[in-house]
Amino acid sequence: MYLEIKQLSKQFGGLHAVNNVDFSIEKGKINAIIGPNGAGKSTFFNLISGVHKPTSGKVIFKGKDISNLAANEIAELGVARTFQTTNLFERSTIFDNVVVGHRLRTRSNLFDAIFRTKRLKQEEEKSKEIALEVLDFVGLSNYADRLVANISQEEKKRVAFALALATDPEIVFLDEPTAGVNPDETEKLSYLIEKMTQGGITVCLIEHKMKMIMNLADKIMVLNYGEKIAEGIPEEINKNEQVIKAYLGGSASA
Ligand SMILES: Nc1ncnc2c1ncn2[C@@H]1O[C@H](COP(=O)(O)OP(=O)(O)OP(=O)(O)O)[C@@H](O)[C@H]1O
Ligand SMILES: [Mg+2]
Repeated sequence: MYLEIKQLSKQFGGLHAVNNVDFSIEKGKINAIIGPNGAGKSTFFNLISGVHKPTSGKVIFKGKDISNLAANEIAELGVARTFQTTNLFERSTIFDNVVVGHRLRTRSNLFDAIFRTKRLKQEEEKSKEIALEVLDFVGLSNYADRLVANISQEEKKRVAFALALATDPEIVFLDEPTAGVNPDETEKLSYLIEKMTQGGITVCLIEHKMKMIMNLADKIMVLNYGEKIAEGIPEEINKNEQVIKAYLGGSASA
């Protein structure tokens, strides 16, 4: 299996934020994680991407145990993510946000930075090239010079995608990629997520928007109070009694 999660748990004091969760991700597919507020979805992402260390359990990526690697080491293996709240530099341009985001993840050391070595300059050029490339992919190349403070929520979401894509990932974890955008924009962002998979990237996303998830996902996992209560294709999840009771409040089409 491409990415395998085995009996993953995270406790914060007495709270079982993620409790003994097994999950597997197939290459090239769109996987979704749903569940009520506080169910442990973001924590699950934080465990995979190295923001938090698991209390127990394992994350195996392409046969390698990455459970205890640092976040930057995990990123270097091709695992990228976006955060639920996108922290962008509001007073910088879209382009500069992506360049800086990329620079923060690349190599130059203090020596390079002080003496502005040839390598540093080459890396800066490379970051600019990559920024143009990913902004083109997410449909923002014509807006590259706009200040982030002046763009829409949907465009900010696209910038967050661009930041994740700039690291040239194999798999991306998107934490509520369409939160706070209207239905039309949600559809456009869904299209962009599909375009990522067509480009060979595996996607795993957290979302509350059921209709979108039902249309987009190949596979869905449902978390409730840190535990996996269901897993399956959208049709299965849609008619799962436990899911309807726990999460959908009696209406699977909400
Ligand atoms: N760093 C932390 N320290 C202590 N408790 C935390 C921490 N992070 C998350 N929690 C708790 O773990 C539980 C799961 O939180 P998490 O953010 O993973 O939920 P979620 O499913 O992403 O919810 P939402 O849909 O609201 O984003 C919550 O009770 C939360 O308060
Ligand atoms: Mg969350």
